[in-house]
Amino acid sequence: MTGSSNIKPKGSLLAALDVGSSKIACFIGRIIDDEGAFEVIGVGHRPSQGVKNGAVIDLDEAEAAIRHAVHSAENMAAQVMKGYPLREVIANVSGLQASSHGHSVDVQINGHEITDNDVRRALARAQERESSQDFELLHTIPTFFRIDGQDGITEPRGMFAENMQVDVHLVAGDAPSLRNMAACVERSHLDISALCVSSYASGLAALVEDEMDLGCTVIDIGGGVTSFAVFHSGRMIYCDAVSLGGINVTKDIAQGLTTSIVDAERLKILYGSAMATQTDDSELIDVPRLGEDERSKPNHVPRAFLIGIIQPRMEEILELVRGKMNDSGVGKIAGRRVVFTGGASQLPGIRELGQHVLDKQVRLGKPIRTLGLPDAVSGPAFTTAAGLLSYAAEHSDEMPAEIMAQVRPESVIERAKLWLRENW
Ligand SMILES: Nc1ncnc2c1ncn2[C@@H]1O[C@H](COP(=O)(O)OP(=O)(O)OP(=O)(O)O)[C@@H](O)[C@H]1O
Ligand SMILES: [Mg+2]
Repeated sequence: MTGSSNIKPKGSLLAALDVGSSKIACFIGRIIDDEGAFEVIGVGHRPSQGVKNGAVIDLDEAEAAIRHAVHSAENMAAQVMKGYPLREVIANVSGLQASSHGHSVDVQINGHEITDNDVRRALARAQERESSQDFELLHTIPTFFRIDGQDGITEPRGMFAENMQVDVHLVAGDAPSLRNMAACVERSHLDISALCVSSYASGLAALVEDEMDLGCTVIDIGGGVTSFAVFHSGRMIYCDAVSLGGINVTKDIAQGLTTSIVDAERLKILYGSAMATQTDDSELIDVPRLGEDERSKPNHVPRAFLIGIIQPRMEEILELVRGKMNDSGVGKIAGRRVVFTGGASQLPGIRELGQHVLDKQVRLGKPIRTLGLPDAVSGPAFTTAAGLLSYAAEHSDEMPAEIMAQVRPESVIERAKLWLRENW
């Protein structure tokens, strides 16, 4: 957070593209004040194709779906902004294609007042350490500052110090996957202005400020990916993902009840639950038989049987997330609060199951700070898309390219002095 200089001017436009395993969504927003607040003026979405577990696996199919979603959003936006052609979008990166690292960087201040440039210098140095051909940096987020050994500093700028230590959270994306995503987007005649990890975007859209400050984890349960991001002191400090989601639940149902994927999805949404209740045994549901025509008699199956298929898979997903959170070492400061987002978080009973498996307080989330969002796209499945707009509007100071572009290089002599001081 490097001050307000990065806020986009009033009237500027933003566009977000969430390429998911189940649907592709495009939101167009317009900045409405000097603080970076925005309203949504165009939305479009399509069932996904050519995407599996958050990664593009068929360029042509994915491109077609992206193009449709973008056109719908442009058409809606055109009613407010005449002749508005979309040129740039901020796109998501699935948590499976990203890795999260912490670095601690020391910079000498020499008794001066800490400036924006000192902070950027620290971030740039962390970025240099992480640079690699196989990865592309997505986020560079300062998380904690220590000044002359003093912990707990949230805003170092303006303070006098000899030495500043910055804990930096870097998120890097897997270069080949990003290239495939970029190829699809570019074929739709769009440029990617920035990339943002899906779970980070979901957190930005769904968490209240106190949750971000005190410690909270957002878990986005999508179609093919369940991703999570841990927030503390107002910043994202960790993110990761598991390659399972609602699509796996639907496939389990289709197999377990020998019915089609379409019928399994319908049964899941109509009668599914993540946890058993006492009435499930007495309730019978009609399950169409696989491969037989509509006139043939459906199977009558107790609802408990359906839930008995769903529950273990949802448990497995949440247990895997719990394991990753524990392994990451951020578990302790992550706090006791969890917010679920993503389409599959709409399964009844998920909150109770989450509380049981994660041993945390769970609430259900959706976009809460996105003005102008039409009702049809204001549910939990659209949290990432809404958060991408927030990221573009308010967090450009965490984009690695912006940091590199804005850091003022020291003169050769200053650099030599610093090198000597830091290495001898
Ligand atoms: N009412 C509902 N009850 C249960 N599950 C639902 C409901 N509505 C949608 N889902 C499930 O949500 C999943 C899709 O969620 P979402 O739209 O968040 O995924 P995505 O963003 O496209 O994919 P991902 O983020 O995993 O790449 C599907 O598996 C779908 O079955
Ligand atoms: Mg998603």
